[in-house]
Amino acid sequence: MKKLFIKSYGCQMNVYDAGRMADALAPEGFIETADPADADVVILNTCHIREKAAEKVYSELGRVRRIKQERAGAGRDTKVVVAGCVAQAEGAEILRRAPVVDVVVGPQSYHRLPALMKRAERERGVVDTEFPVEDKFDHLPLAPRPKLRARGVSAFLTIQEGCDKFCTFCVVPYTRGAEVSRPVAKVVAEAERLAEAGVREITVIGQNVNAYHGEGPDGATWSLGRLLRRLAEVPCVARLRYTTSHPRDMDDDLIAAHAELPALMPYLHLPVQAGSDRILEAMNRRHTADDYRRIVERVRSARPDIALSSDFIVGFPGETEEDFAETLRLVEEVGFASAFSFKYSPRPGTPGAELDGQVPEEVKAERLQRLQALLEEQRQAFNRGTVGRTVDVLLEKPGRHPGQLAGKTPYLQAVQIEGGGRAIGDLVPVRILRAGSNSLFGEPAGGPALTAAA
Ligand code: 5AD
Ligand code: SF4
Repeated sequence: MKKLFIKSYGCQMNVYDAGRMADALAPEGFIETADPADADVVILNTCHIREKAAEKVYSELGRVRRIKQERAGAGRDTKVVVAGCVAQAEGAEILRRAPVVDVVVGPQSYHRLPALMKRAERERGVVDTEFPVEDKFDHLPLAPRPKLRARGVSAFLTIQEGCDKFCTFCVVPYTRGAEVSRPVAKVVAEAERLAEAGVREITVIGQNVNAYHGEGPDGATWSLGRLLRRLAEVPCVARLRYTTSHPRDMDDDLIAAHAELPALMPYLHLPVQAGSDRILEAMNRRHTADDYRRIVERVRSARPDIALSSDFIVGFPGETEEDFAETLRLVEEVGFASAFSFKYSPRPGTPGAELDGQVPEEVKAERLQRLQALLEEQRQAFNRGTVGRTVDVLLEKPGRHPGQLAGKTPYLQAVQIEGGGRAIGDLVPVRILRAGSNSLFGEPAGGPALTAAA
C-alpha cells in the first residue's frame, strides 16, 4: 500500500475536494496517513482567499522539502503535489520557486490526478490549471463502495462550484471559475451513497450555494429549496445544512423550506461583509444593508429560532470610521450566533487591490478588534440562551474525556455529554446545563434516544 497525506487549508470546498482526491487516488493503491513523513505522496490543498496564502504555502513546502530529503536518504521517494486555489493562481510559478514540487493541479483538474502523477514519474514538474469545458464532476468517481472513505457522521456534498458575482475583493471567480451546478440526480445519488455509509448529516456546499440551478430529472431547473426538499426524503439523513449563501439569492422558496423541512437545520451562514451602503457598493455586493435586514426578517418569520452567522471584512478601501460604525450598527441590530471577520487583504488581480484609499494596517487591526469583541459577546449570549433548553444533539465523535461524546446542536454549537449507552451517530435530546467558552455541556434528557438504526 502506498501512503497519501493531504493537508487542506481554507473552506469546506477544500475539505470536500481532499476527500475526492483521496477517492481518485484510492484505485491506484493509496491509503491516507496522518503523518507526512510516512507519505509517498504529499498534497497541499491550498487556499488563496486571504492574507499571505501563497507565502504560507512556500514555507510549508520548505518543511515538506526537508521530509522529502530525509526520506530520500532512506531510499524512499516522495511526490509533492500543490492543489487548490494557490495552485490555480500561481501555476508554473510554484515550480520555479519551489523545485521540490512535482505536480501543480488546479481545482478543475482533480479527476486527472492519477494521470498527472504518472506523468510526474517521467517528467520534471507537471502543471494542470486548465479550465476544462467538460464537467469535472462527471469525471470524479466516488471510490468503489467498499473503499468509500469513512466520512463520519456529518459530511459535505458539493452541489455547485464557482461564482459569477465578482465582489471586488474576492479571488474566487478567478480561481474557481464560473458558476456550475451539478444535476439533481447526481446529487441525490451521492447523498444516498453517503447515507448508506452511515452519514446522518449532509451539508451541501458551494461557493454560492443558494445560486444553485441544477438540472432536475423532470428537465426543469431546480432551485436550492427544491433540491433540499428532495434530499430531505433520502432515508437515514436526519439533518441538512447548506453553505455559503449570498443575500441576493435568498429566494422565497429557500426561505419557505426553513419553515417546512424539519431536517433543514435552523442555521444560516449569510455573509454581509459590511454595513455601509457606500462600501457594499464599492464591494460590488449588489445589495444594501437594509436589503440584508429585510432578508433576515423574512428568514426569521419562517424560522424564528434560526441562528445567523456571517462574514465581515473591515478596512475595505475607502472605509471611514462612519462606514465602520454602520457595520457595528448592523451587527447590533441583527444579532449573530457566530461569525467570521477579517481585515481586508488586497488580492492581486482583483479590482479592490487597485482602489485608492487603502486603509492603514493599524486602523484595520483596531476596527477588527472592536468588531470581534461585539461578535464574541453575541456568540456567548446566544450560547447562554440555550442553557436550560433541551435540544437534539447529533453525536459525532468521542468527547474530551473518557466516557464523553461530542456532537452538535441544530444551531451548530459544539456540545459535550456523558456518553452512557449512547453511540456516535445517535441523535439524542440533550438538556443543556452550561455554556463554556467554546462548547456547551449537557446531559441526555429522559426518554428513548433515537438511535442510528432508527
Ligand atoms: N480580504 C479579506 N477577506 C476576504 N474574504 C474574501 N476575500 C477577502 C479579502 N480579499 C472573506 C470574505 C468571504 C470569506 C470567505 O473570506 O468575508 O466571505
Ligand atoms: Fe467571492 Fe463574492 Fe463570489 Fe462570495 S459572492 S465567492 S465573496 S465573489
